[in-house]
Amino acid sequence: MKIMVVGGGGREHAIIKAIKKNKDVEVVYALPGNGGIAQDAICVSIGAKEIDKIVDFAVEKKIDYAIVAPDDPLVLGAVDALNAKGIPCFGPNKNAAIIEGSKAFSKNLMKKYNIPTAQYEIFDDCEKAIKYLDSVSLPIVVKADGLALGKGVIIAQTKQEAIDAIRSMMEDKVFGASGDNVVIEEFLTGPEVSVLAFTDGKTLIPMISSMDHKRVGDNDTGLNTGGMGTIAPNPYYTKDIADVCMKEIFMPTMNAMNAEGRTFKGCLYFGLMLTPKGPKVIEYNCRFGDPETQVVLPLLESDLLTVMQAVTEERLSEVEVKFSDKSACCVIMASGGYPQKYAKGFEIFIPDSVKDHVYVAGAEIKDGKTVTSGGRVLGVTAIADGLKNAIDASYALTKQITFEGAYYRNDIGARALKALVEDK
Ligand code: AMP
Ligand code: GLY
Repeated sequence: MKIMVVGGGGREHAIIKAIKKNKDVEVVYALPGNGGIAQDAICVSIGAKEIDKIVDFAVEKKIDYAIVAPDDPLVLGAVDALNAKGIPCFGPNKNAAIIEGSKAFSKNLMKKYNIPTAQYEIFDDCEKAIKYLDSVSLPIVVKADGLALGKGVIIAQTKQEAIDAIRSMMEDKVFGASGDNVVIEEFLTGPEVSVLAFTDGKTLIPMISSMDHKRVGDNDTGLNTGGMGTIAPNPYYTKDIADVCMKEIFMPTMNAMNAEGRTFKGCLYFGLMLTPKGPKVIEYNCRFGDPETQVVLPLLESDLLTVMQAVTEERLSEVEVKFSDKSACCVIMASGGYPQKYAKGFEIFIPDSVKDHVYVAGAEIKDGKTVTSGGRVLGVTAIADGLKNAIDASYALTKQITFEGAYYRNDIGARALKALVEDK
């Protein structure tokens, strides 16, 4: 089979490594891929948002199956465009990808179908949004409606911060049209859990739970990033909580999308907060999470491509989706300075014995050398019996990789480990 994967980050590298385990896979193209993915796939310099070029490429190469991994092409309708040319895809149609593409849509969906989430109001008028702040308690959360590279969420500690956030989104348009509408919502507290789920609109199978670490600094300090590391499974996500989520959140969401005529097929990501009043949805994503994928897929024992094809063909109920009972930890190595200004172009040295554990996000090949090209450069995943061993193994591998200015958090998984100890 000829496979095409749209995207070029660590998540796509993890997907590619997983599907290559299937013996029927002859060739994998990555659009655009990156300098590390180039070890495992043929990289083609077509951007993930260049839908017409993606479709032309797929037709020309007679692609048998396409996987559209990032949010942008999904929200832009890449799957619809590929399907129109007869190319089967993994990923939701445009009308279902809106569950991530518009927070106003997802909040209204949850309200209509009684899916637990933070209280909220939606505004298309800046002054009305600011006036509303008179009636809320602090902190308060301000979110741009549309996609904003994960930066469209401001947790305002003061009213002035909330006003500034609203004005920058609605008047200064820092996120472009994504800020035409804003959601202002209640601040929730509790441990966060990421749950990715396969669904074909009839069946929904949650994958192993995970925990992201979004802040740049140890002990969850500093600026928000695209994710500095992940562990799986997430110890806060007990069997009882999983049962509640399945009944009150996951199945109701699948059914709600069906009822709206927006059947979701693909990977549905539930960003959950385990609040004192029970699990609530913080966000939906219409795709695999990054860097959650880098711990979830290495623990998947079933064949990923087989499961994906079953989703596309709406026979997910017929396949087995089995996860290892081990634990995984992924440490992200970033360019020093990220998520603010950072230098790039530094050669990356990875010992051969470590390569299988590495998912590359921001690297390119220059003069035959693999050099850094992004803020988050790569993720290093280890699997072991128990979380503590997985964390130790992941850091032992991370320390063997070098590039100038390399930065990583030293406490990935520490909070989860503490939860495990307190539980005993
Ligand atoms: P999002 O992009 O919606 O996932 O938001 C980014 C991060 O902001 C989440 O992972 C949470 O840590 C935080 N966040 C979002 N919404 C809320 C909320 N209502 N209450 C508390 N924290 C929130
Ligand atoms: N890790 C969060 C995301 O992929 O959006």
